[in-house]
Amino acid sequence: MLADAVDEPLLLHSLSEHAELIFGALDAAQPRRIVEIGSETGGFSKQLLDWSGANGATLVTVEPYPTPEVRELAEKTPHFELVIGRSPGALAGLDPADAYVIDGDHNHWTVLRELRAAYAGDARPLAILHDVGWPCARRDQYYAPHAIPEDGQHPHSWEKGRDPDQRELVDVGGFHGEFEFAVAVDEGGTDNGVLAAVEEFLESRPDLEYRQVEAIFGVGYVYPADAPYGARVRELLDPWHESTLLERMERNRVRLYARVLELQDQLRRAGLGSGRVALALEDRIEALEAENTALRLERARLRERLAGHMHNA
Ligand SMILES: C[S@@+](CC[C@H](N)C(=O)[O-])C[C@H]1O[C@@H](n2cnc3c(N)ncnc32)[C@H](O)[C@@H]1O
Repeated sequence: MLADAVDEPLLLHSLSEHAELIFGALDAAQPRRIVEIGSETGGFSKQLLDWSGANGATLVTVEPYPTPEVRELAEKTPHFELVIGRSPGALAGLDPADAYVIDGDHNHWTVLRELRAAYAGDARPLAILHDVGWPCARRDQYYAPHAIPEDGQHPHSWEKGRDPDQRELVDVGGFHGEFEFAVAVDEGGTDNGVLAAVEEFLESRPDLEYRQVEAIFGVGYVYPADAPYGARVRELLDPWHESTLLERMERNRVRLYARVLELQDQLRRAGLGSGRVALALEDRIEALEAENTALRLERARLRERLAGHMHNA
């Protein structure tokens, strides 16, 4: 366990952290074809690819900027198709899939169209969406606002950060994109955020069911209520769905995360000076890291409980 903790990033953010539940749901649904939207460094794509190889499935990954490693993997792996482009536009040219892992551009306009594309016609896939929790739940984020019609965007900022303790964006600290993506200036209101898009889509589809696991920015699962694998997915997710304990832990995690980002910003601005300020900040980082370790241990305990639960199921 200690070796795992040392390798683990301090600030957890990837879908990989939800592997037990996501692969549990995929084991139940047994998709033949999976479309993944957004691969970043490809860590989770590789896990999806391993699962696909072991289960006779094909993985299609849509990503505008794939890493050289992901490109190379696609060249040499017959059951891996890489589509270099942007969703939802890129989805139009693809065959329908049995499962979608949606983690691309986290805004209402994009996600609503991704869901509409996934469930077009008679399609009844399982869709797994990242960032249905704070900060993207009710506030758009844009990697490429130029790719979205003007009436599909909200006024946004490339520099400011999102702070879990206030609705206004902040100049120092908070969750910001370091010019990689912009975030909507306002939170809430109409057509704003990933969860808002999911809710709007579900309103038009009473035949679908939804579960949400609040940890690590939130993961949502959409599937037909009468899917043959529905009972297994419910069994897996219901202990986590709307868990107030998990909500509290995630709220605490993002607050600590924001504090670490703020301290990192301050250190950067101070030029990592050797003075007393830098030392005091380092002390505070250490204290936050200790709290983080406690959270990691709690998560490991929860994982063990989940493993026991899955074993007994
Ligand atoms: C949050 S990261 C994905 C992280 C990855 N799924 C994981 O959990 O490790 C988002 C990725 O989506 C990509 N992206 C942004 N806009 C996109 C779009 N319209 N279509 C597909 N991918 C997009 C970004 O380039 C980035 O690599």
